[in-house]
Amino acid sequence: MKFSLAVLPGDGIGPDVTAEALKVLRVVAEKFGHQFDFEYGLVGGIAIDHSGEALTEDTLKMCQQAQAVLLGAVGGPKWDDPQAKVRPEDGLLALRKSLGLFANLRPVKVFPMLVNSTNLKPEVIEGVDFIFVRELTGGLYFGEPKKQWRTPQGRRAVDSMAYSEQEIERIVRVGFELARTRSKKLISVDKANVLESSRLWRQVAVEVAEDYPDIELEHMLVDACAMRLIQNPKYLDVLVTENTFGDILTDEASMLAGSMGMLPSASLAGVPREGVAIFGLYEPIHGSAPRHAGQNDSNPIATILSVAMMLRYSLDLPEEAGTVEKAVEEVLDEGYRTYDIMSEGKTKVGTREMGELIARKVRGK
Ligand code: IPM
Ligand code: MN
Repeated sequence: MKFSLAVLPGDGIGPDVTAEALKVLRVVAEKFGHQFDFEYGLVGGIAIDHSGEALTEDTLKMCQQAQAVLLGAVGGPKWDDPQAKVRPEDGLLALRKSLGLFANLRPVKVFPMLVNSTNLKPEVIEGVDFIFVRELTGGLYFGEPKKQWRTPQGRRAVDSMAYSEQEIERIVRVGFELARTRSKKLISVDKANVLESSRLWRQVAVEVAEDYPDIELEHMLVDACAMRLIQNPKYLDVLVTENTFGDILTDEASMLAGSMGMLPSASLAGVPREGVAIFGLYEPIHGSAPRHAGQNDSNPIATILSVAMMLRYSLDLPEEAGTVEKAVEEVLDEGYRTYDIMSEGKTKVGTREMGELIARKVRGK
């Protein structure tokens, strides 16, 4: 089959890790007889340097015409001035909003061979396997009013955590659908004891639950969820939450997997269902790590696993996706580690070596 894919490497280590993910994709194409046509575009700081905009019309159009988008990372100290008119992150946010990518899936799976690479006790994290469904185009990130202004008493600023019932309903449905394919339990995370938007969230979740009598719905307050993630993460399976809560909780959750460099993500424009290809953008959850850019030491696994998610959700190629995931597992099993997941007795490798090892495993199957 033939697919057209947009590739936006972005800033910092973005180009380093996307190069390895593309290496793996090329091997997938060869092995399974597909054709992937890659088109490259600019987003983030590098786009600002070229055009003054973090996301240009051309790049957006290119993404709209593709079946899926692969993104590295955006941002860096060069563009970090709080006074700046345009920031690299604006490009990513504009992409998510303009492409209608409301459903951000962030799976957190602890690989058995990495249980000793984290700060937590192995018995707490062994077997951890859950998935966050983060709402991605609403809440504090986009709600109006959103501004900073001067008053006689000094400066003030406001962001708005705004949600419509339609926005809540569609994301909660993603949670229920995923729960159906897993343990049939859904945890909806909110702050309904304080926030009005959370009270609406909870009401809508309860209403949508009527369509899913086979799924058990539990509400969890976001502060309790932050605690539970560390105290007993094995309890969790499918969680659905609003944008900012999801942003914060998934960085926390990444520490269970040993490193930010291990966690992939999919941002989808629809509800994932087996056998249906949905447009999506795929990126590691980590940032641009500017100090590591071009150093050949970053962990490309999060991006490679993001490509596996792309194969599964946007290209409807589950076998190919599984092959990539298995290759990652086997390379880790053989003891290869980038610096962020390194432990005694293991073999330290760089970004390119890790990409090569995984690509070779895919080819070998
Ligand atoms: C993420 C990132 C982004 C976010 C930034 C880069 C805008 O932290 O994808 O989690 O806050 O959503
Ligand atoms: Mn984040």
